[in-house]
Amino acid sequence: MKIAVNTGGGDAPGLNAVIRSVVLAANRKGWEVYGIKYGYRGLLDTKQIVRLTPEYVWDITNIGGTILGTAIKGDPFNFPMATIDGTYVETDISDTIISNFKALGFDALIAIGGDGSLRIASKFLKKGLPIIGVPKTIDNDISSTDFTFGFDTAVNTATEAIDKLHTTAKSHDRVMVVEVMGRYVGWIALHSGISGSADVILIPEIPFDIEKVCNKVRQRALIGQDYSIVVVAEGAKPVGGDVTVLEQAPVGGEVRLGGIGRKVADAIGRMTGKETRHIVLGHLQRGGAPTTFDRLLALRFGVAAVNLAEAGKFGYMAALRSTEIVCVPIEEAIGQMKSVSPDSDIVQTARSLGISFGD
Ligand code: F6P
Repeated sequence: MKIAVNTGGGDAPGLNAVIRSVVLAANRKGWEVYGIKYGYRGLLDTKQIVRLTPEYVWDITNIGGTILGTAIKGDPFNFPMATIDGTYVETDISDTIISNFKALGFDALIAIGGDGSLRIASKFLKKGLPIIGVPKTIDNDISSTDFTFGFDTAVNTATEAIDKLHTTAKSHDRVMVVEVMGRYVGWIALHSGISGSADVILIPEIPFDIEKVCNKVRQRALIGQDYSIVVVAEGAKPVGGDVTVLEQAPVGGEVRLGGIGRKVADAIGRMTGKETRHIVLGHLQRGGAPTTFDRLLALRFGVAAVNLAEAGKFGYMAALRSTEIVCVPIEEAIGQMKSVSPDSDIVQTARSLGISFGD
């Protein structure tokens, strides 16, 4: 077989490990693998296609980012095309992508991406493109898989940052508010907040009351803990309120969340009189070497994707269920976002540890 692989959406630690795994597993079957650069853009300009040999991918398991580059505003069904007056309009260029794919003689495309990329994959599948999915995202919001690679690394980065904030918060008797990524779900905030011994964790799934957040800070002061750590997911919102948007969606792009950390910090400072600082961890969470967990998951997903291609199971993606790699229809995975259940044991664990969700 002659297969293609691409990476789409925001990068996540572990993408290179999947690419390596696909190339090595396919090579052992005697197949050829080609990397499509910048999501689907490489299928518009075929100079952006690289032959991926085992030598090409030898040393990349531990390297963050993606050697293929990625695209956030690259949905071929709503592609931002420049007009004469310099503005952009969304154009459907999917037929061009399909005809170039066929002209190049590819038998399958392994698309590594988050929910946006998997949605694109599902649309291409309906138009006859033989696609296999590999789920990635630091947000861990893809259904049908227990974990996506990239999440563990992001959580480790956030936990390390929270650990560091503890010492400075304690030295100055301050409240430190740290905003973490996660889009519309609170997985990163929840896992890093509990592991980093936060006092308050605010997640989109549990709208918060700022008065209750301040009460937690005050209660801690009453027992001699004059500092507090508040972890805020970028998608967190107050009861009856909405998410805080940093930037509206550009043509072919997505809305950027951000700013809730600052709002929460300002309110805490004003309402409690405590000196409060905020920090936004931002893209640090997407960088760096993948953790062992993410490397292994990514390598397992890559091999599974090659096996799916061999079995002709197009329209499926690799997934982790408990300790096993399984395959699930892409359609099933994109049907619903995987969010934190407020009744889950992990939320209950946090509550039993005395962590407030501001509710
Ligand atoms: O989906 C991954 C993610 O890092 C989100 O957590 C975050 O909201 C978004 O991407 C940031 O996107 P960008 O790289 O376009 O700023």
